[in-house]
Amino acid sequence: MHLNILITASEAVPFAKEGGLADVVGALPKYLQARGHDVRVVMPRYYKVDRERYQLRLLPGVLVVPMGIIGNMYCGVSQGTMPGSNVPIYFLEHEDFYGRDSLYERDNQGYLDNDNRFIFLSKASLELCKMIQFTPDVVHAHDWHTAAVPVLMNTWYRHDYHLSQAASLLTIHNMQHQGSFYEGAMDVLGIGWDHFTFLELEMDDQVNLLKGGIYHATMLNTVSEGYAREIQTPEYGWGLEGVVRQRSDVLSGILNGVDYHEWNPEEDRLLPANYSAQDLSGKAICKSELQRALGLPQREDVPLVGMVSRLVKQKGIDVLAQALPRLLELDIQLVLLGAGEPWAHFYFGGMAADRPDRFACRIGYDNSLAHRIEAGCDFFLMPSAFEPCGLNQMYSMRYGTLPIVRATGGLDDSVENFNPQTRSGDGFKFWDLTAGALFDTVGWAVHTWYHDAPGIAALRNNAMAKRFTWENAAEKYERLYLEGMKRKLGDEKFRKLEAERTPARGKASIEETPGYQPQA
Ligand code: ADP
Ligand code: GLC
Repeated sequence: MHLNILITASEAVPFAKEGGLADVVGALPKYLQARGHDVRVVMPRYYKVDRERYQLRLLPGVLVVPMGIIGNMYCGVSQGTMPGSNVPIYFLEHEDFYGRDSLYERDNQGYLDNDNRFIFLSKASLELCKMIQFTPDVVHAHDWHTAAVPVLMNTWYRHDYHLSQAASLLTIHNMQHQGSFYEGAMDVLGIGWDHFTFLELEMDDQVNLLKGGIYHATMLNTVSEGYAREIQTPEYGWGLEGVVRQRSDVLSGILNGVDYHEWNPEEDRLLPANYSAQDLSGKAICKSELQRALGLPQREDVPLVGMVSRLVKQKGIDVLAQALPRLLELDIQLVLLGAGEPWAHFYFGGMAADRPDRFACRIGYDNSLAHRIEAGCDFFLMPSAFEPCGLNQMYSMRYGTLPIVRATGGLDDSVENFNPQTRSGDGFKFWDLTAGALFDTVGWAVHTWYHDAPGIAALRNNAMAKRFTWENAAEKYERLYLEGMKRKLGDEKFRKLEAERTPARGKASIEETPGYQPQA
């Protein structure tokens, strides 16, 4: 059936991105629209979202956002479209909250008013429905930034004309970041202190927005089935495993898709040469060009291992740091692109200065280099401590760059370990989060590269043929939305609605949807 879907999040490609969350929010709406739904997206207009570049149009009127004890706050709304589609996206214009260079923090310190900034985002997203006269069937929130949305829908907006019938879905991309604030944030939420209990919003005497969202959302999901299981355990639940377990009946996992218009070695314009599984000659050019650009010796006969990552503990960089001296004794080359914790900048930068023949390190964010690393390397390393989904291992498979991953969350779900007997699989896995296990597994991959060329060729073929499509993920999200509506409305009301509604008139493919343009 045709659905009205409101998606609210703090980042979306191409407007503002810190991590994979932005890739997901940038892609999913287009594929839902392609399935015939009316999808609207709302996010803050940070400084970096250029009004002219994206042809944003200021809508008439202002949003009045009730901010509890602070009183009413106001903001303008600019409308644009998601590039490559005609999905409307609404930007909240609030200079005080969002007119900043960085999204969440400065000098590795979260902004002190993040509670107000994101409670505002959550409330304003819901208030927007009035302004644009949109009555969603489902409101889809992402991570702690908009986790207050399901809480507010069950409380403040319970009888709201546009929202009272809507189900909510909270997608958890990362359990570590929970939006934990001084208890006074309850007064800004304005829903009453009776919700400040261990069951709902209280955690360690603080207001925990993610916890509230988990408690209140009609449906919950994470970005892989493996991670959905893991977050119910103390090892991965970051203290919220109990509340997650209580809601396990509505929790599932949906692996993210890949935007293959953006990540395709056959057409990728950021590469010095294109290639396919049938003709890999372009990949050799990519390797040699990458070595040149990084100042590494241009050798074809040495395996090149890449890594593109936020340099934070989640990504296993402490374990990599421990293993690095031994790794650099092997005849391999390593390239690391990333930014994050200051110690990592110094440590990896220093190691690269020490071994310029084997290790190149680039600190910073560089999308073009990320593409060239995916294409130019033989292996791609992801030693994550936890990984809800992970996108780079999926990109790297498409580029014939074999992932070496710690078997956790989405990495475990998406990569199949090499079996040297049958030559099946598409990557290399290890389980223990230790420098020894990391070293041994890179060693195994490199040994295979040197001594079992047919094995590597088979792995590469398997990897390049594998697809993680958004079409598939969007279909699963649609099922989740319908399930949520059924829970919210009850069977009878849901069936009635289904009978009244026109079926969703989806197109056969995203290319056929109005407004679609392939992206550069
Ligand atoms: P996370 O969201 O936890 O950082 P994901 O694997 O889901 O991890 O997504 C990371 C995304 O950010 C990928 O698209 C990756 O290519 C990109 N990325 C991360 N660091 C950099 C960087 N330094 N330069 C370019 N792209 C980066
Ligand atoms: C988070 C996770 C990452 C996931 C991304 C998109 O940032 O750390 O594993 O791929 O969200 O869902």
